[in-house]
Amino acid sequence: MESLQRLSFVSFIALLAYFAFLASAELHVREFVVSWLHGIRQLRNPWADGPEYITQCPIRPGQSYTYRFTIEDQEGTLWWHAHSRWLRATVYGALIIYPRLGSPYPFSMPKRDIPILLGEWWDRNPMDVLRQAQFTGAAANVSDAYTINGQPGDLYRCSRAETVRFPIFPGETVQLRVINAGLNQELFFSVANHQLTVVETDSAYTKPFTTSVIMIGPGQTTNVLLTANQRPGRYYMAARAYNSANAPFDNTTTTAILEYVNAPTRRGRGRGQIAPVFPVLPGFNDTATATAFTNRLRYWKRAPVPLQVDENLFFTVGLGLTNCSNPNSPRCQGPNGTRFAASINNQSFVLPRRNSIMQAYYQGMPGIFTTDFPPVPPVQFDYTGNVSRGLWQPVKGTKAYKLKYRANVQIVLQDTSIVTTENHPMHLHGYQFYVVGSGFGNFNPRTDPARFNLYDPPERNTVGTPPGGWVAIRFVADNPGAWFMHCHIDSHLGWGLAMVFLVENGRGQLQSVQAPPLDLPRC
Ligand code: C2O
Repeated sequence: MESLQRLSFVSFIALLAYFAFLASAELHVREFVVSWLHGIRQLRNPWADGPEYITQCPIRPGQSYTYRFTIEDQEGTLWWHAHSRWLRATVYGALIIYPRLGSPYPFSMPKRDIPILLGEWWDRNPMDVLRQAQFTGAAANVSDAYTINGQPGDLYRCSRAETVRFPIFPGETVQLRVINAGLNQELFFSVANHQLTVVETDSAYTKPFTTSVIMIGPGQTTNVLLTANQRPGRYYMAARAYNSANAPFDNTTTTAILEYVNAPTRRGRGRGQIAPVFPVLPGFNDTATATAFTNRLRYWKRAPVPLQVDENLFFTVGLGLTNCSNPNSPRCQGPNGTRFAASINNQSFVLPRRNSIMQAYYQGMPGIFTTDFPPVPPVQFDYTGNVSRGLWQPVKGTKAYKLKYRANVQIVLQDTSIVTTENHPMHLHGYQFYVVGSGFGNFNPRTDPARFNLYDPPERNTVGTPPGGWVAIRFVADNPGAWFMHCHIDSHLGWGLAMVFLVENGRGQLQSVQAPPLDLPRC
């Protein structure tokens, strides 16, 4: 029942997004809402980007804001979601960009295309779950279910009747566009007895390769081809957690059913459909499988990776704990009477309240943010070793880092072992970047760059740090504006695992931020 309601809400909003696409949408909701088109570059147009207090103020109840934007040189699977607190738990949908008519795919494109939206479901209102966590300082309750296209599937109480089914013809090949819209959890996804051929991640084509399981972090998309070449029957597709942290998680499994149209039925007594085959899924903490999968990703052709680096940034990313003067306070229910925190380079990001960063920057309004975000951690330490407790407490602030127009940027994202090592799906707005290298332990600036892949590294907009490891990305800062970079695990984002890049204008109109639209929400 509940999931039914939610499903229709999701498709309702999807419809709105479609109209937004045609440039006239009105959103009428009770909570403040901000939509965002995850992955659309929004060239020179941060006003349509969406994250609250970064590029706009929230749309107030009863008001509306129309996102007007142009898609330039992008095709593939992206998605959209609310970008205000935890509203994206139910406000999300797929956004699929087809190639220009007549222009080919770099692989043989099946006739049928199936979006697979992986979601996360709480039996309580997710906003209440968030409010409770924000009050106590403890970790938020884990979800009660995962979903495939809005439905939890056969392995949960009372949801069997509504399990999603995908009919398929024997011999047919289909493309699955898998999107992890979950709030807080990386997922393994697999289809019983069927191989998956990966052809795209985050709207960038890859060299095709075949696997029985994919790992997908919140914010990421992965397109796979699947051929119905097995015995006519019924096969589960299933997703469950890849949990890289030493922390509680939702250990349930969501399923949908791939149904051959000629699947045999049982005869006689107990007549009806045969039971679906269940896939083999990796163990919850199977980092080896997750890493082996991501290490196979390659851009589909030679990639225009920047070879020289102008901005060499080193960012530690991870959790922390804020000490309380009264550890027995109901507001300090984190480990040992603390509150959970998270940071990049020890800076725990706090959203401004009076104005968005982009508007403040455009209007020259002081006092909203500063531009002294540190390019390297304030102290060096053994990031993935046994970190002394004195380094666990980050500093709060609203800091941006300035980039010159067209600077070649490299960022090494180094996970820390503070509280726990973990895969953090780091997402950058306004850009696609190349993932040139990764490894476990501490990044070594002398030896590791020699092993970077500058030839065909995968292009993404969201990349996970290996737990207790690092990942290096490169991009050209060719899109002026204020662009959020953050962990796409919403509980970490709320704890401050975020920062902002302020990319300066270049020369002339075509290298500068456009004027804001007249209906941009007031702060
Ligand atoms: Cu898909 Cu800032 O998020």
